[in-house]
Amino acid sequence: MTITGSGSATPDQFLSNNDLALMVDTSDEWIKARTGIGKRHLASSSVSLSQLSAQAASKALEMSGLAPNDLDLILLATSSPDDLFGSACQVQSLIGASRAVAFDLTAACSGFVFALVTAAQYIRTGSYRNVLVIGADILSRWVDWNDRGTCILFGDGAGAIVCQATETGDRLLGFEMCSDGSQNSSLNLGYQGLEKSLNTKAEITQGNYQFITMNGREVYRFAVAKVPEVIEKALYHAGLSAADLDWLLLHQANQRIIDAVADRLKITSEKVISNVAEYGNTSAASIPIALDEAIRQRKVKDGDIIATSGFGAGLSWGSAIIQWGK
Ligand code: COA
Repeated sequence: MTITGSGSATPDQFLSNNDLALMVDTSDEWIKARTGIGKRHLASSSVSLSQLSAQAASKALEMSGLAPNDLDLILLATSSPDDLFGSACQVQSLIGASRAVAFDLTAACSGFVFALVTAAQYIRTGSYRNVLVIGADILSRWVDWNDRGTCILFGDGAGAIVCQATETGDRLLGFEMCSDGSQNSSLNLGYQGLEKSLNTKAEITQGNYQFITMNGREVYRFAVAKVPEVIEKALYHAGLSAADLDWLLLHQANQRIIDAVADRLKITSEKVISNVAEYGNTSAASIPIALDEAIRQRKVKDGDIIATSGFGAGLSWGSAIIQWGK
């Protein structure tokens, strides 16, 4: 498989650190020093996850030169769909990809990497030739804006890539995916329901999803320990080492995590792609948004090798080593 197009979409409105400091007990200095984040773009009530995804998807299709009807499969990695039954079919309808089958894939901030690897399996088996992979999240709808431990981190957005079958060498060079449910409570967006008796024999619950809860220190420790390890395993499968990489593109959670991982892998800062200062943590969208920006700025060039890594709730983490260019 090869990646032939990328696109991204973020809401226009944003909240700066100084805006946040008027809402909770925090400061621009504290947020920048601990996270590297300067602002986060936020979706208003008129913006849906499906619309943001469709915008990113249309741009990716345009770059790839494919028409919507050329698509065989659409994978939407998201943890914040408009509809709990899934939003991929709505995206399919919005972009007019009537021939494609579409479904959601939920793996929080690892979602984009997991979906990219899933796309590659369909392409490698010969089942599908043209696959659209989208990472999109609107976590502002699930953040407690009174909790300074989490509300400083998250922003909204969507990114997409087009993966195609190729006869000239597979550009997913290696991958590794992991999960550990025993640490699930470190980062949650859980359902809570009130008990309700339907009759004397049947009792159910009804309720809602709650706000994001997180143990920041635990998640930080997990990321800094596991991300270098999983990238090294993916590099091993690719027959490469960190020295062969042109770019390191991690899930944009926190600049300190990005720097610590780069340091462990002995990758210099010029090779690190980061836009966390502009968007904060956009969950499944963060890698494809940063990839799309780097491609459009012509930072990433034909033949460049990029180590991507997603990590987060689950807990889940993974890495895909990709080579850009048709
Ligand atoms: N502004 C100011 N002070 C804050 C604050 C904020 N937004 N949030 C926490 N603090 C305070 C704490 O109350 C604590 O005060 P105390 O020492 O008086 O008790 C102090 O700052 C240190 O808190 P701590 O939680 O240890 O900070 P930290 O250095 O671990 O930074 C995070 C907190 C959330 C920035 C950091 O843990 C982190 O980024 N973790 C990873 C989170 C992540 O990436 N999640 C998504 C993964 S997909």
